[in-house]
Amino acid sequence: MEDLGNVPWPPEPVRTERLVLRGSEARDRAAFIDLLTSPEANAYVGGPRPRDELERRTPEVPQQWPGSFVVDLDGEMIGHVLLRRTTETGRPAAVGKADLGYLFLPRAWGLGYAAEACSAALGWLDGVFPGEPVLLTTQTANLASMRLAAKLGFTEVERFEAWGAEQWLGMRSPVTPSA
Ligand SMILES: CC(C)(COP(=O)(O)OP(=O)(O)OC[C@H]1O[C@@H](n2cnc3c(N)ncnc32)[C@H](O)[C@@H]1OP(=O)(O)O)[C@@H](O)C(=O)NCCC(=O)NCCS
Repeated sequence: MEDLGNVPWPPEPVRTERLVLRGSEARDRAAFIDLLTSPEANAYVGGPRPRDELERRTPEVPQQWPGSFVVDLDGEMIGHVLLRRTTETGRPAAVGKADLGYLFLPRAWGLGYAAEACSAALGWLDGVFPGEPVLLTTQTANLASMRLAAKLGFTEVERFEAWGAEQWLGMRSPVTPSA
């Protein structure tokens, strides 16, 4: 994966009913470390990272790249939405295409925040890259993620084995402006 490249970053904050999506700032550092060290949040994405390593290596402003949205609830980071581009090492159907990823702190699950934030991020992407499809890969065993993908309008392209588990590649067709 690589970042989205040529887009203005950080963007104007994207506001939803309950959330703000914005570029990362120094005040998000502790939440990023909590997110990446959480066993629950990383159960289907390679496992948690060691806290001492992250404390040492995380830059003052973490994950500052085009397409990396902090999800902010009342001034505090609750999740990370990642819009990236798939490189040649990805599945052939996904190469060169935009890809959606998401990771929320467990205390923010089950409240509809992920769906609200991801829809807003996809809306933002439709604005900067009109007419582009978006891909998403998730483990089929990750039921919360599979439900979210369906809610966001992703439909199955293929299933495949990778990283020791069955993976689901879904696609969201481009939004076509109404006449
Ligand atoms: C995947 C993940 C983001 C899903 O989070 P989530 O909170 O379950 O997702 P949603 O925002 O869709 O909220 C889901 C629930 O909130 C409930 N909810 C409660 N209040 C709500 C409200 N006001 N509005 C909407 N939904 C609400 C919904 O009923 C929904 O439950 P359902 O899916 O059983 O119908 C989360 O589990 C996570 O961060 N997992 C770890 C990271 C990961 O595995 N990422 C996948 C790799 S791409």
